[in-house]
Amino acid sequence: QKVLVLNGPNLGRLGSREPDVYGATTFADLVADCEQAGAELGLSVEVRQTDDEAELVGWLHEAADHKYPVVLNPAAFTHYSYALRDACAQRTAPLIEIHISNPAAREDFRHTSVVAAVASGTIAGFGLNSYRLALRALTTLTS
Ligand code: DQA
Repeated sequence: QKVLVLNGPNLGRLGSREPDVYGATTFADLVADCEQAGAELGLSVEVRQTDDEAELVGWLHEAADHKYPVVLNPAAFTHYSYALRDACAQRTAPLIEIHISNPAAREDFRHTSVVAAVASGTIAGFGLNSYRLALRALTTLTS
């Protein structure tokens, strides 16, 4: 089963970006870890990152068209992108929203997710392990 792990803006800078919040692991390390976790679970994981809202929306359309399950870290788009929310609403397979940090424990503007209501569920606050937990959760979901 193919799974898309999609990442929004600034996540390509993991490792150098606010390491006190997001850790010292690089995006390349994250890609390798997701691929390995997927292999352990029998999933063929493809990890992508973009800073561009249109590109991320396009990837969600692709997932909907092919019935690919999605693990999505929408990054800052989480909090305000209705376009991203509407793209997620078109999903034809499970979609898990994830965050490295725990947005509920941070600034007020991070307390709202416009994506959460159209996701299968949300995993947040477990560092990069949030990705592994989401891939594991996907294997237990059918819609
Ligand atoms: C994030 C949390 C968001 O609030 C923030 O804008 C990000 C990363 C996380 O993974 O913790 O870019 O989605």
